[in-house]
Amino acid sequence: MFKINENYLKLPGSYLFSTIGRKVREYKAANPDKDVISLGIGDVTKPLAPSVIKALHDAVDEMGNPDTFKGYAPDLGYEFLRNAIRDNDYKARGVDIDIDEIFISDGAKSDSGNIGDIFSKDNKIAVCDPVYPVYVDTNAMAGRTGDYNLETEKWSNVIYMPCTKETGFAPEIPLENPDIIYLCFPNNPTGATITKDALQEWVDYALKIGACIIYDAAYEAYISEEDVPHSIYECEGAKACAIEIRSFSKNAGFTGTRLGFTVVPKELKKGNVMLRDLWARRHGTKFNGAPYIIQRAGEAVYSKEGKRETREQVAYYMENARIIRESLKEAGYTVYGGVNAPYIWLDTNGASSWEFFDTLLEKANVVGTPGSGFGPSGEGYFRLTAFGTRENTIEALERIKKI
Ligand SMILES: Cc1ncc(COP(=O)(O)O)c(C=O)c1O
Repeated sequence: MFKINENYLKLPGSYLFSTIGRKVREYKAANPDKDVISLGIGDVTKPLAPSVIKALHDAVDEMGNPDTFKGYAPDLGYEFLRNAIRDNDYKARGVDIDIDEIFISDGAKSDSGNIGDIFSKDNKIAVCDPVYPVYVDTNAMAGRTGDYNLETEKWSNVIYMPCTKETGFAPEIPLENPDIIYLCFPNNPTGATITKDALQEWVDYALKIGACIIYDAAYEAYISEEDVPHSIYECEGAKACAIEIRSFSKNAGFTGTRLGFTVVPKELKKGNVMLRDLWARRHGTKFNGAPYIIQRAGEAVYSKEGKRETREQVAYYMENARIIRESLKEAGYTVYGGVNAPYIWLDTNGASSWEFFDTLLEKANVVGTPGSGFGPSGEGYFRLTAFGTRENTIEALERIKKI
């Protein structure tokens, strides 16, 4: 008789965005005349850049021609894309990454969930609180997190690193040493980021205690300040203790197109076992590659035109972020983030995060994300995203100012 993975039964409720989706559907069904604006889920609204579209069309034509047709992609991804990543994301920042350390995937969500496959169940993870829910939930599915306590909203075998206004929304080195540390900068959901010196402290700490950092840099393109590192490998020694995950979703609008990559340096070892080799084995066994046409589209992001066009998209969203920040301040809210990240994190002035969600939905017909959905320290906060259209962003903020 088959047995199920009972770890799934320990997961609390439904995934945050499913709950939001259900609430919004119910509200719309009861109020069909209302025009609801979503600044909730972190999905982009701008179409793909013209140079990306051209690359897609060209690649589709290649697929229709027997001389240029492509079947399965190479295990790690096409070299043209890995070369572009190495040169633009790393070499240009003084970081030496080999293309054999770059693994092309269908996005950062799957990579950040799947990376746990190469680690034993007996690892204790540390996460920021609040946190992008995928890290904790996927570790729970793997049986690494202990049991969930409904009252504290915490797992028994997870080290939570509170990121609150008292800590400047930065995690502090935990009292208990973890084996795996998840860090995400610029941060979802708080929009906070980290200086190079502060990140270096995490690298030094991980090296000292023999921990592995999983560094999610999905929002790297939104960094606007000088002393903020774009890659963890800008820090000394990081190649011996960190895996970096990147995405094409937010810098180039690939949320529906799907493309990302993970860097696992050869220096990252346990004894004489390279984690890179384990990830290569996993990748080759469980994943059959991102589509050729999408990898060509990804390559176009690094072309001169592609860079200019995608930078304009990021600038558009960051102008939305500025509008949200300034309007909320005018309305008397205390706001954080929105400078190096497309997320604005606001203090709900004493209301619970879900109360604030309901008020905003019912009174302003605006959807945001309750901070508590990202972890207990997110209670009393609320996340708005800058990924809406300019028109909707302005309209949403006018409505919020009125309540
Ligand atoms: C921190 C973080 N990592 C990863 C992802 C997922 O990226 P992708 O679309 O590449 O799966 C998101 C998406 O919102 C995110 O916020």
